[in-house]
Amino acid sequence: MLKARLIADRDMKKAAVDRRIYSSFIEHLGRAVYSGIYEPGHPEADENGFRKDVIRLIRELDVPYVRYPGGNFVSCYRWEDGVGPVAERPARLDAAWKTLEPNTFGLDEAAAWAKAADTKLMMAVNLGTRGLQDAVNLLEYCNIDAPSKYAQMRKDNGHKDPYGIKLWCLGNEMDGKWQTGHKTPEEYARIAAETARAMKRVDPSIELVACGSSGSNMATFPEWERIVLTEAYDAVDYISMHQYYDNYDDDAPSFLAASTDLDRFIKTVITAADYAKAVTRSSKTIGISLDEWNVWYHTRREDDKKMDDNPWQIAPHLLEDIYNAEDALVVGCMLITILRNAERVRIACLAQLVNVIAPIMTRKGGGAWRQTIYYPFMHASRYGRGKVVETAADSALYDSGKYGDVPYLESVAVLNEAEDELTVFAVNRSLSEDMELALDLRGFGKCSLIEHIELRSDDLKAINTEEKENVRPVVRTDSALDSGTGSIILRPASWNTIRIKVR
Ligand code: AHR
Repeated sequence: MLKARLIADRDMKKAAVDRRIYSSFIEHLGRAVYSGIYEPGHPEADENGFRKDVIRLIRELDVPYVRYPGGNFVSCYRWEDGVGPVAERPARLDAAWKTLEPNTFGLDEAAAWAKAADTKLMMAVNLGTRGLQDAVNLLEYCNIDAPSKYAQMRKDNGHKDPYGIKLWCLGNEMDGKWQTGHKTPEEYARIAAETARAMKRVDPSIELVACGSSGSNMATFPEWERIVLTEAYDAVDYISMHQYYDNYDDDAPSFLAASTDLDRFIKTVITAADYAKAVTRSSKTIGISLDEWNVWYHTRREDDKKMDDNPWQIAPHLLEDIYNAEDALVVGCMLITILRNAERVRIACLAQLVNVIAPIMTRKGGGAWRQTIYYPFMHASRYGRGKVVETAADSALYDSGKYGDVPYLESVAVLNEAEDELTVFAVNRSLSEDMELALDLRGFGKCSLIEHIELRSDDLKAINTEEKENVRPVVRTDSALDSGTGSIILRPASWNTIRIKVR
């Protein structure tokens, strides 16, 4: 049995959790929109064609923002194609994913859907094939109440009140050669800074995210961040990060350690942002928007071929990764890492939400179900609200291969003062041994265990299907906590949500 210790002190609060870290992403890609969130004629469709079964699952996740409409898709998107009478909307080739975009679901549908799903849109503008003027027009359409061309266009389309969209992404992954209209850091810095300034003149209440690197392995990282932020520092509020992990080598010890790499990536982006702060003599601190993160590899290689061999389909099956138990653990470790960096990571979007590398899957004409990764996200979103508490963790290390020596225990503690509740999220990375986790909770008064929820499977490759949820959380009835101390057993390869009542 492994032994680990976690000390938490009530007086050592680290950072408030920004609820926007539990955001997600819907792109016009594969079946995310068509037969994902939107399927007119489906038995569960509402009067707008929005699938109510999917909305119920999204509501359970409590997702504050959904990034839209891309992703790579946005970099050649003409938003005007998706507004106005549906019969008059053109179908277009989407060069990003080699599909045919019918435009029967567009901006106004997205705004109505967000309302129905109890979430808000985080809108991305096209800085690939378009630019400043178009971004300002789109902002006018969404947020302005004036008798001006684009605001009037929204009203004429039946939407009298502005949508009041507060969060905007200045393009997507503009550092990547795969991106339509890819740019050098200098080119992007200029267009992002100028677009940001113009957009804030139109609506000063918005917050803007500049594109950072689309992965820690990009050749331009972190020079990209330095150049972009030095140019655009005054005009933007966040720098984006995107990061996906894979297990192509089928090497669980390394894969489970991937979050240590995410932690390093976040710390380096913070350093680059603070360097730009010093250079620009600014008093403002730039936050991080980790607006794409997840595990992604199950379909990645075959999808490239699928798009090439059979292009221009409407809503084909693309990026439909079926997640297993070990993927859920990696997602859990990434969530813990995001929480531990809550002071600077203010926004994070699990990419994506439905069908496309997603926690929720649907069958066209059929059911909707929860993938394995749904659960750690749901637990973190429900119970990881409040303030992150400083912790000291003591755990044995193992040699992960790819990421060096890594602790068996990955953990974080979040205090919800309104509910008098402390939640410890913990992953035992050991594949074979139980871990006895000794909790030493200082200054929390009388503590008692509310519940210990565990997610694991003896089979790391176990998946959930429409018919059967093989990987689902269970409440451990054998766990107990006496006053401020106690031990909880974390079983091998498990995600644990330990909810504690504090006084
Ligand atoms: O989320 C899938 C894709 O991954 C997005 O379109 C792109 O931004 C990233 O490369």
